[in-house]
Amino acid sequence: MEYDFENRLVEPTDFIGENESDNPLRPTNLKDYIGQTKVKENLAVFMEAAKKRRETLDHVLLYGPPGLGKTTLASIIANEMNVNLRITSGPAIEKPGDLAALLTNLNEGDVLFIDEIHRISRSVEEILYPAMEDFVIDIITGKGQMAASYHLPLSKFTLVGATTRAGQLTAPLRDRFGVILRLELYTVEELSMIIKRSASILNISIEDEGAIEIASRSRGTPRIANRLLKRVRDFAQVISEGIITYDTAKIALDRLEIDEIGLDANDRRMLEAIIKYYNGGPVGLETLAAAIGEEAITIEDLYEPYLLQIGFINRTPRGRCITKAGYNHLGYSFPADNNNTQQRLF
Ligand code: ADE
Repeated sequence: MEYDFENRLVEPTDFIGENESDNPLRPTNLKDYIGQTKVKENLAVFMEAAKKRRETLDHVLLYGPPGLGKTTLASIIANEMNVNLRITSGPAIEKPGDLAALLTNLNEGDVLFIDEIHRISRSVEEILYPAMEDFVIDIITGKGQMAASYHLPLSKFTLVGATTRAGQLTAPLRDRFGVILRLELYTVEELSMIIKRSASILNISIEDEGAIEIASRSRGTPRIANRLLKRVRDFAQVISEGIITYDTAKIALDRLEIDEIGLDANDRRMLEAIIKYYNGGPVGLETLAAAIGEEAITIEDLYEPYLLQIGFINRTPRGRCITKAGYNHLGYSFPADNNNTQQRLF
């Protein structure tokens, strides 16, 4: 089955094609950024100190699950430091020359944001080392007798790297970031504040209980919360005179098949397949993929992360297993002979 990005409301990545760069819901100042308190407090200190010393901010690595506001933070950093922001991503930088072109066009203090930085190639990464450390690039062009090496000085800039997989960065790259910040899933209270802020920007009327109901089903992720808010608004327009109450939110989200903890029909279908066909597991990834008609990579990158995070499945050397919490959530009783570990995060 083709993976249906367009229709997966609980998709945390942004390849749904939302235009993230001019998203009106994105806060532009640290004071409007809700949640991630530790990250915010530390960043505020580092930015103020750099400003006082009239220096550029040290390179910053942001890591954590998708949809938590890494790009937003990069644009806030640029805004608060009064510099330009350049946005690119690991896979978009194909050759060392692509990166060299980006770097030589930066002005003093500018922020270069590289999303999915764990996906840059080795040859690109090698350009990045001296650029980050000494603000120079060494490029060799041509071959044999025609070879020439260039040593170009760069303006001092701040690299903001973002990754969902900090473990996949090489140690030399990770070590070149002076500031490493980990973003956490948001609490329901934080998400409901974000939803109310977004509702006010979009002129949507929402009651507190409506915001909490949407927040509880948003998987700790603002990007999902904002997307659900827009869909619930459609229902509100038709069934409750445009006001999002608890009832409207509940009816809408039930109709969208997103359950009380944010699982959608795909998540439940996968969990049920493991329970029904494989007695709760372990089942190998490829076998499971074939059984539910998905690609293995879709399961690995899109369905599994949240289910692992909330402790509904475990990854073992022999395959995937459903935990007791997973069984309970789907309304099945946990088989007595099952020794999968039981963990539940909420
Ligand atoms: N919109 C998306 N993420 C946000 C955040 N952390 N704070 C405020 N608004 C947001």
